[in-house]
Amino acid sequence: MGALEYFPESFEQEDLPNKVDIDALFAEAQNVLDNVTSEDRIDYLYQMGGSSGGARPKVLINYNFDTRIITNGIDGNSGSLPFILKFPSSNDLLDIANIEYAYYLMAIDAGIEMSRSALISSSKGRQFFITQRFDRVDSGKLHMHSAAGLLHDDFRYSTMDYGHLMDAAFRLEKSVVAYEKILRMAYFNLVTNNRDDHSKNFSFLMDSFGTWRVAPAYDLTYSTTSHGYHSTSYYGESKNPTIAHIKSLAEIFKVEHVDKIIDQVNESVSNWTTIAHNTGVSAATSEMIGKYIDNAIKGK
Ligand SMILES: Nc1ncnc2c1ncn2[C@@H]1O[C@H](COP(=O)(O)OP(=O)(O)OP(=O)(O)O)[C@@H](O)[C@H]1O
Ligand SMILES: [Mg+2]
Repeated sequence: MGALEYFPESFEQEDLPNKVDIDALFAEAQNVLDNVTSEDRIDYLYQMGGSSGGARPKVLINYNFDTRIITNGIDGNSGSLPFILKFPSSNDLLDIANIEYAYYLMAIDAGIEMSRSALISSSKGRQFFITQRFDRVDSGKLHMHSAAGLLHDDFRYSTMDYGHLMDAAFRLEKSVVAYEKILRMAYFNLVTNNRDDHSKNFSFLMDSFGTWRVAPAYDLTYSTTSHGYHSTSYYGESKNPTIAHIKSLAEIFKVEHVDKIIDQVNESVSNWTTIAHNTGVSAATSEMIGKYIDNAIKGK
């Protein structure tokens, strides 16, 4: 992702079909996860953009909101915009795409900036989450740096705290608004149990004038991670962060509107059950996440 380009010395290019069959691609991605993919299919998936990073398989596509046609992401297609299409990994809940879309709607409503995203249905009736690429703009490509890269943080054994992120965001944006952006994401992740908040799940973008800003949020979903800790700590606390830790961060960085941020996020996430219902999240998942959110906003 981002604007750095490289060209492999030799690369056998396959002619990609212009129109994308997501059911077929999903089957290919599953074959990779099941270890039964032949090498040429790996090359094909790679060409479809399978190198964008993250644990889940994904492809780069162009999507036209009016016609709902998906084309391959290699060539520009008029009227289409560049998107990432995420496939589930083998240990994801069946309604992972619906959950991620519901989280997207809640995050937007909570005042968190995110790229336009959608749920799309395949011809076999499966639903997938797609999100518009924020490193692609009308004028071209934006450079992108993850917090992991910028702060030299090993995202698997992270020592990053939301305080470090707030500091980095302020230094790059040169505005106190950057503190609020990170604090809002931090509180949202706390009450929605997004513990997969590792340092590659936060990025910064740089335009052609060298101006940096915090990238829109991405990869927001319910996640306990393998050990139940938040990857990024809250004022030193990773296991059971509370509003008190959010307030301590706000105090250090002199974020005046912390109560307003908390209220806005609480108001948005308290609509979980309705949003989950409207986005096709299963009843069992909705109830599980709903309970978590209820307790979290009551400070339990
Ligand atoms: N809207 C976007 N625009 C540009 N790049 C993005 C966008 N969303 C995600 N990315 C990039 O793609 C990578 C993978 O996306 P994402 O984090 O959503 O996938 P994942 O497989 O769920 O990740 P994880 O391994 O953290 O669970 C991100 O780390 C980020 O670099
Ligand atoms: Mg991620």
